[in-house]
Amino acid sequence: MAEISRLRGEINRHNYLYYVLDSPEVPDAEYDRLMRRLEELEAAFPDLVTPDSPTQRVGAKPLAAFGTIKHTIPMISLANALTRDEALEFDARVKRQLGLGPEDKIEYVGEPKMDGLAVELIYEDGVFVRGSTRGDGEVGEDVTQNLKTVRSIPLRLTKNAPRLLEARGEVFLPLDAFRKINREREERGEPLFANPRNAAAGSIRQLDPKVTAARPLDIFCYGLGVVEGVVPSTHLESLELLKKSGLRVNPFVKLLHGIEAAVEYHDELEARRDSLNYELDGAVLKVNSLDLQRRLGVITRSPRWAIAYKFVPKQEWTRVIRIEVGVGRTGALTPVAILEPVFVGGVTIERATLHNLDEVERKDVRPGDTVIVQRAGDVIPEVLEVIMAKRPPNTEPFRMPPACPVCGAAVDRVKAIHYCTGGLQCPAQLKESIRHFASKRAMDIEGLGDKHIEQFVEAGLLKDVADIFVNLTAENLKNLAKWKDKSIANLLGSIEKSKQPALERLIYALGIKGVGEHMARLLAKRFGSIEKLMEMDEQGLLNVHEIGPETARSIVDFFREPRNLDVLEKLKSAGVVFGIEEGAAGKGALSGKVFLFTGALSSFTRDEAKDLVESLGGEAASSVSKKVDFVVAGEEAGSKYDKAKKLGLTIINEEQFRKMVGR
Ligand code: IVH
Repeated sequence: MAEISRLRGEINRHNYLYYVLDSPEVPDAEYDRLMRRLEELEAAFPDLVTPDSPTQRVGAKPLAAFGTIKHTIPMISLANALTRDEALEFDARVKRQLGLGPEDKIEYVGEPKMDGLAVELIYEDGVFVRGSTRGDGEVGEDVTQNLKTVRSIPLRLTKNAPRLLEARGEVFLPLDAFRKINREREERGEPLFANPRNAAAGSIRQLDPKVTAARPLDIFCYGLGVVEGVVPSTHLESLELLKKSGLRVNPFVKLLHGIEAAVEYHDELEARRDSLNYELDGAVLKVNSLDLQRRLGVITRSPRWAIAYKFVPKQEWTRVIRIEVGVGRTGALTPVAILEPVFVGGVTIERATLHNLDEVERKDVRPGDTVIVQRAGDVIPEVLEVIMAKRPPNTEPFRMPPACPVCGAAVDRVKAIHYCTGGLQCPAQLKESIRHFASKRAMDIEGLGDKHIEQFVEAGLLKDVADIFVNLTAENLKNLAKWKDKSIANLLGSIEKSKQPALERLIYALGIKGVGEHMARLLAKRFGSIEKLMEMDEQGLLNVHEIGPETARSIVDFFREPRNLDVLEKLKSAGVVFGIEEGAAGKGALSGKVFLFTGALSSFTRDEAKDLVESLGGEAASSVSKKVDFVVAGEEAGSKYDKAKKLGLTIINEEQFRKMVGR
């Protein structure tokens, strides 16, 4: 008695959460288990069955905000079969009740079990007049206006349709629409829908039909209520009538001879499940003959002539052991829940994504929590919600680490996303940052494609972008598979050629968050050199039209990160020229820059060149030292050149110098 009473209380609460509030707290599988146990106990102790037990009715009370509609014929629900054995048992029961032998074959109709919201549509003289949700099975909510916004619900049936037709079906949200809506909600910082069913239910039960209209809901009809004028004799004929009248019926409906064919149908549908653009949670098997249906009858909660033969559940609950932070190839930090292993959707999962900090905070997931996890189709497993009642004492809210867990660089935040700022060397982002760096519109290193990058990274030759100029040598390449003299020469040639990029390309190549090609061009024009750009603080950047606070912070953080500065230094000493933007050459363009001339120039005398540098704010040195930023090498450059080379100084030719000074 104590257990029955506890179960009823719990099930009633879940009914309310599921049917009235559209926000369930437990996975369907758990609800089924509770219901099962209650049914079992009530079967063993029939005296304890009361009229208000959840086994004796379907749902809970509808919300008062909508008008109500009483169903002419109650909308009952289906009993479940969770395994093949239970499906066979259902078939055996049907035959027993009909006085048939085990060898006899029952004709079933197999239908996909849509995971959405059951509705009834009433057509009078072919016109859609009223539509309702299932509600508690007896009385539903009047959602006529909202149903009218569903494109696949005809407002008028085809000619010759019955004078009165009540159609029943499942309204659902296609998966692509569901993902799109959640993406938009994520961007707006709104709570995400846990699954397409909740999204569909939430949409139909909107008080404002405009909101419903903006959601591309769809429907498949699967049954009739009252019909006047036509008397189908099989379920399949009922479906034909629905179709003929202009209503949508699922194309995977199939006539099946015997339970073995029905089990096969279930398995085929399950195998197909992930390729469909809507969510299925099982196959419904219905006795085809309406006469047999009448003979079998209905028990309070469900018909004896049909069963929902479920697929393996895609939601379960488990415990969060800890929360780790993963770094994606774009540098985005993703909190991941490490779980006690649990079997969901046919596989064991041990990790589930928590998306981003906003989502963790909204769901308030903490290590030690019991959570509902979901695995939907090809989608990575995710944590849906926390069962707060099961939270142990002394849990701590999750915090994002201040440093990248992979490389230790500082972490920055743009909108909901945290990301690592050590893009030039972070191993998690390595392949992606090299790919971007070498790409056509960045450094344009011809022949350094994705496959090669992969090979070089795996071989340990590339640990940051500067290694392209340090470690990709004929010596090193010779030892790698598929590299021949000619291909090596070609690659080394294009690497050499890329060493003097236009400033805007170099800036773009660094892969600073928020700095695309356009922004890189803007920065090059405005600041004229990497060094100038590096000196800027956020305010200085914000003064530039088009640079917003997020990009400004991202740029400052990038150049503040010592790991990035090391890579920049390494690029320089490997011979990459950090050029100066032509257009930016004006008063002060060379400010702080030290030049040294060696060899003969063709368009200037040595003094003219020195004057030019000084007039642009630069300085001309007379001896080689670490202080020199650019060594301009003319014809027959002498010992200064060799010394500069030894010191690893940046050496440019006359042509490059002319570009810098705008001559
Ligand atoms: S028949 C008397 N057919 O599943 C039979 N139901 O648990 C009533 N559902 O409330 C239902 N697809 O929301 C039926 N092909 C289908 C279905 C289907 C989905 C839903 C429906 C119903 C619930 C039954």
